[in-house]
Amino acid sequence: MNYSDLENFGFLKIDIPKDINLKKEILKLKTEKNAVILGHFYIDGELQDISDYVGDSLQLSQQAAKTNAEIIVFLGVHFMAETAKILSPDRKVIIPDLKAGCSLADSCPAEEFAKFIEKYPGHTVISYVNTTAKIKALTDIVVTSSNAKQIVESLPEDEKIIFGPDRNLGNYINSITGRNMILWDGACHVHKEFDLEAILRLKQDNPDAKIIAHPECEKPILLVSEHIGSTSSLLKFTQTDNSHKYIVATESGIIHQMKKARPDKIFIPAPALDSTCGCNDCNFMKLNTMEKLYNCLKYEAPEVKVDDELRKKAEKSIVRMLEISANLGL
Ligand code: 13P
Ligand code: SF4
Repeated sequence: MNYSDLENFGFLKIDIPKDINLKKEILKLKTEKNAVILGHFYIDGELQDISDYVGDSLQLSQQAAKTNAEIIVFLGVHFMAETAKILSPDRKVIIPDLKAGCSLADSCPAEEFAKFIEKYPGHTVISYVNTTAKIKALTDIVVTSSNAKQIVESLPEDEKIIFGPDRNLGNYINSITGRNMILWDGACHVHKEFDLEAILRLKQDNPDAKIIAHPECEKPILLVSEHIGSTSSLLKFTQTDNSHKYIVATESGIIHQMKKARPDKIFIPAPALDSTCGCNDCNFMKLNTMEKLYNCLKYEAPEVKVDDELRKKAEKSIVRMLEISANLGL
C-alpha cells in the first residue's frame, strides 16, 4: 500500500483486476471484516443500494453511535465520517476518498468562527452538523436539518443564540420559530445555485408538480416551495403526499430513493443557474465510487482520525444533539 498516493490523491490508487465482481467482493470484505456501510442519500444509487443504512445526517450519526461493527465505512463526506469517529472512537472509520469535503463546512474556518463568537458573549452556540470537529468543539449544541427547528424551540424564548455556518438554514429557522439568531454567513455551493426563474418556468410547464426544497436553498427558492425539509423529510413527503410530480430542489442523489419508494411518481431535478455544470450534483459526494469503496474496505484506508483532546471537546455538542433528539422522539 502506498501512502504517498493517499496524500496526493486522497484515496488509494491501486489497480483492481478487470474481471472482478465489485459488488460481490465488497459484500464479502464487509462480512469478513465485520464492517458496516453507512451511506448518505446524495451518493450514487449503486452505492446507496450496497449500504447497510442509507439516511440523512441525523440518522447516520445515530447509526454510527450505536453500531457494533468494528469498522465504519462512511459513504458521504468527511464531516459525516468525522462525526462518526467522534461518536465511536473505538471503531475504525474509513472513507473511500479523503477529498470528499463540503463547501459549507469550508465556509466556516474555526479561527474566524472563534472570533465571531467572542463578539457575542452570553450566547448559546448552535452549529449545523456540516462543520469540522474544531467548530463542533466551539459549539454548545449541534443540529441537523431534521432537528434544527425542534432543538431551537426547546431552548427558552429569550435565549440568545448564534447559529452557524449555513445562513439559509439559519434564516429559515428564524422565520419559522420567530427567533432572532445571529447568523454566520456561510452557504453550500450546490444549494445556493438553484435557478429561481428556471424553476418557475418548469412549474409553469408542469402545473401539477409540487416544488420541494432543502432549507439550505436560498430564500426565494424556499418561498416558492410547497414543502421544505431535510433529505429524509423530502423523501417522506413524496411517499405520503397525494401529488404525482415533484420539482426537487436539493442534491439529485435523493431522487434514487424517491423513485424506489414511489416508482409511479415523477421527479424532476431543479435546474441550477449554470445548466451546463451539473451543479445540483455535489461533486464531493460523487467522489465516492464502487472502485474506491472496494479499495477502502480491502486496505482499511484512508482512515478518518480525530485528535483525542479535540474529540472530547467536539463530542459534547453532538451528544447533546442526540440526547435532545431522543427526548423529542426524533
Ligand atoms: P441532510 O441532513 O438533510 O441529509 O443534509 C445533509 C447535507 O449535506 C445537505 O446538503
Ligand atoms: Fe456539503 Fe453542500 Fe455537498 Fe451537502 S451538498 S455535502 S452541504 S457541499
